[in-house]
Formats: sequence, structure tokens, C-alpha cells
Amino acid sequence: MIRIGLLGCGTVGSGVVKLLEQNKDIIANRAGETVVLHKVLERDVEKCYQLGIPAEKIAQDIDDILNDEEIDIVVELIGGLEPAFSYVIGAINRGKHVVSANKDLIAVKGREIFKAAEENNVDFYYEASVGGGIPIIYPLKQSLAANRIKEVIGILNGTTNYMLTKMTREGLSYEQVLKEAQELGYAEADPTSDVEGLDAARKIAILSSIAFNSRITLDDVYVEGITGITPADINYAAELGYVIKLLAVAKQDDEGNVEVRVNPAFIPVSHPLAGVNDVFNAVFVKGDAVGDVMHYGKGAGQMPTASAVVGDIIEIVRNMRCGSNGRIGCTCYDEKRVLKVDDMKARFYIRMTVVDRPGVLAGIAGVFGNNNVSIAAVLQKEGEDMAELILITHEVRERDLRKSLDEVKTLDTVGSINNIIRLEGLDKQ
Ligand code: NDP
Ligand code: HSE
Repeated sequence: MIRIGLLGCGTVGSGVVKLLEQNKDIIANRAGETVVLHKVLERDVEKCYQLGIPAEKIAQDIDDILNDEEIDIVVELIGGLEPAFSYVIGAINRGKHVVSANKDLIAVKGREIFKAAEENNVDFYYEASVGGGIPIIYPLKQSLAANRIKEVIGILNGTTNYMLTKMTREGLSYEQVLKEAQELGYAEADPTSDVEGLDAARKIAILSSIAFNSRITLDDVYVEGITGITPADINYAAELGYVIKLLAVAKQDDEGNVEVRVNPAFIPVSHPLAGVNDVFNAVFVKGDAVGDVMHYGKGAGQMPTASAVVGDIIEIVRNMRCGSNGRIGCTCYDEKRVLKVDDMKARFYIRMTVVDRPGVLAGIAGVFGNNNVSIAAVLQKEGEDMAELILITHEVRERDLRKSLDEVKTLDTVGSINNIIRLEGLDKQ
């Protein structure tokens, strides 16, 4: 019998308790051992009672779990950096295997946790930390291990994907959809982490570390959120054959340099990620042997996330039975150069307001040309006195684009630069 010590009985923790009970026979058969909930640490014990967990299984403090030699696997579902980090390290140092869904912790403290796990020859599994119920970490480490991964592009945040889907379908403003998402419980009262792209940034830090075998932390990720996206941008995207999605992008060039960023992006309507709507998540992976692969599903929620957590528990039990714990530990054996945003290359959509008279376009095009920025397409909408000008560039270095825009802003024919959004999912042109 394998005994679990559960930390946190909130949304996901409750799902784990339910799933261990609901599918106990399947789990026992597949793992080869019966898996039981032995002790639970939870601040609000009422949550435990509601799940039918008896008082004798409720820990008084963390030491009740860490010092219980019968506990084989600690499942950390309290979230945040501390005390989660101390609890996880404490469990590992006592020879316990750990499962966690905590992206905040792994994106920042991954190196220390993996080092401790290796030293103690225990498993640390974290499938639920990225994409909730979608299998992506294990496939990248195992099934796709033969590939040189060229890029990983994810829609990794359900809240913002719901909001952008709503803006696209119903023509609503950012403020309107945020209010609605909060009323429905998708967005939190303080939505910063989701709408500013930080949640997705933590997840792509984790995925890119695995894909490129090099430790990428949150600080390495360039982040832009969706707060500046307007119905006008969404309409222009549609007119040009694109949709706007918040993408988490990780790419590796032929020299092994990597770029990791989160930003709203135009993607062609024909791209597989363009059809990922509402709160769904997806991860698109390009490998040199496998080609394009897409993983799609529910990126959050009680039972989808519990599915990933319990899957990790089963895998650890299988390792225990074969004496092969520690088999798949840290895979960051390399140290790749992470590009700064100025050195990244992308195609851009630029929306600006300009004076509508002869020579204006030529003046703007001249500034771009002098800075190595090549224009691929131009769209202009007539206004009363001013016109709205949309430019799509070929692939350019960000430093060159920013320099051009700094110069363009000073032209007396340019009223304002209203938005700048990257294009993604196109072959290089
Ligand atoms: P919840 O807030 O619902 O649950 C966390 C639980 O842990 C709460 O009941 C909380 O109690 C309790 N808790 C927090 N700190 C302590 C502590 N020091 N001692 C004892 N109990 C504590 O969070 P979720 O279940 O939503 O998330 C858990 C983890 O899973 C997070 O890392 C999250 O990022 C991750 N995750 C969540 C997903 C989701 O869909 N919810 C999807 C993918 C990953 P109290 O409420 O009293 O603070
Ligand atoms: N806040 C996240 C989302 C779910 O909206 O996808 C938890 O990672």
C-alpha cells in the first residue's frame, strides 16, 4: 500500500481526494499497489470534513506529515512560493517523493528542487503545473525525447483565452469581457497574473527548460499581456485573415540561442492554435523528426488538474515497484544563451493614425527602410482629417523596429502609434 500526504485541500486537492476514491480500483491495477490518502494538511479543516476525511487523518502541522515514515508521496497543492518551497524540500530531504501542480514554485525554484531530488534519489513530478489536465511535460521528456525541439507555442492561460475569444466573437471591449470573466469566476478579483501574461510566463519557463534542456526562469521570459488589445485590433486581424491569441512562445535557432516570450499575437486563421477557444489551452510543438504536434484540452479546473496529479502519483508508484525512482530527473544538462528582446526577430502589425495627404506614406516607409525594416503589407482606412494606417512588416530585429518607431513618432504627419502586435505561426518570409 502506498500512502499519500496531501498538502492543501482546495480546488485541486479536493479533486485529488475525489479521484483517488472514485477510480481506486483502476488506479490500484495500473499502479500495481493500492494508493491511499493517509494524512491531509489544510488550513480550513471544514474543507476536509466536507470530503468525508476523518479527523484522525488531518495533520496538525507540516511535521505531522514530514515526520510520518509511513508516507511515501507528498502531494503539494497549497500553491505559492512559501511555505510550499520549504515543505517540498523538507519532504524530499526525508526521502519522500513529491508531486506538485505549483508553476510559481517550479518556474522560480526548479533548480534547487531538482538538485535536492537528485541528491535524495526521489521523484519530483509536476505534470499539472502546465496546461492543467493536458499531458505535455511527460511527452516532452519521454515520447518526444528523440527530437531537437525547434519551437513550443502555447495558449497556456484559460482566462485570457476566454476573454480574447469573447472579444473576437462579440466585438466587446477588454473592460467588458474582464468584468464578465470575473462574474463567471474565470478571472480573479485581481486579474493581474493572468491578463499581464505572468501565469503563462511561468508555464513557458517550465516548458522551455524541458524542451531546450537548459534552465529558463521567469526572469528570462519577456512578457506582454492583453490589456492593450482593442476591438479595432481584433477587427483588423480578422480583415487580414488572423485571430489574436495570447501566445507563450519558446524558440531555438540553429546556433542554439533561445527566445522565450509571452505576448498577444496575430496567428493565421488556418493555424491549429487559431481554433483553440474559450478556456481551453493547447501546446503546439515543432520537432525536427516528429514535425508538428498539438496537445489540446482543459488547462485548469478541479478534475482535469487532479487527473494530471494522480497520473504522476501512479508513475511514481510504478517507479517504486521497479526500484527506478529518480529515473527521469532534471533534464537541464545544457546552458543555452537566452536572447534579450532587442535581439529577437518577429513580424509585426503596427497601427497608427496619420495625416491623410500626399507623401505621408512615403515618409514613413523611408524611415522604416533606413532602419532595415521591410514592409510586407499596407492597409489604410480613410477618416475625417486623419487616416488609420496598418503596416505589416517582414521579419525584423526588434531593436530595428523600435528605433524606426522612435523616429516615426517624431514625424509631424504621424498623430499616434496606437498598437504594435507580433505575428506568429507563419513560415519565415
Ligand atoms: P486553492 O486555493 O483552491 O487551494 C489551496 C488550499 O491550500 C486552500 O484550501 C488553502 O487554504 C490551503 N493552504 C494554503 N496554504 C496553506 C498552508 N500553509 N497550510 C495549510 N493549508 C494551506 O488552490 P488550487 O487548488 O486552485 O491550486 C493549488 C495548486 O494547483 C496551485 O499551485 C495552482 O497554481 C495549481 N493549479 C491549479 C489549477 C486550478 O485549476 N485551480 C490548475 C493547474 C494548477 P485557504 O483557502 O484557507 O488559504
Ligand atoms: N489562471 C489560470 C488560467 C489557471 O486562467 O488558465 C491556473 O493556472
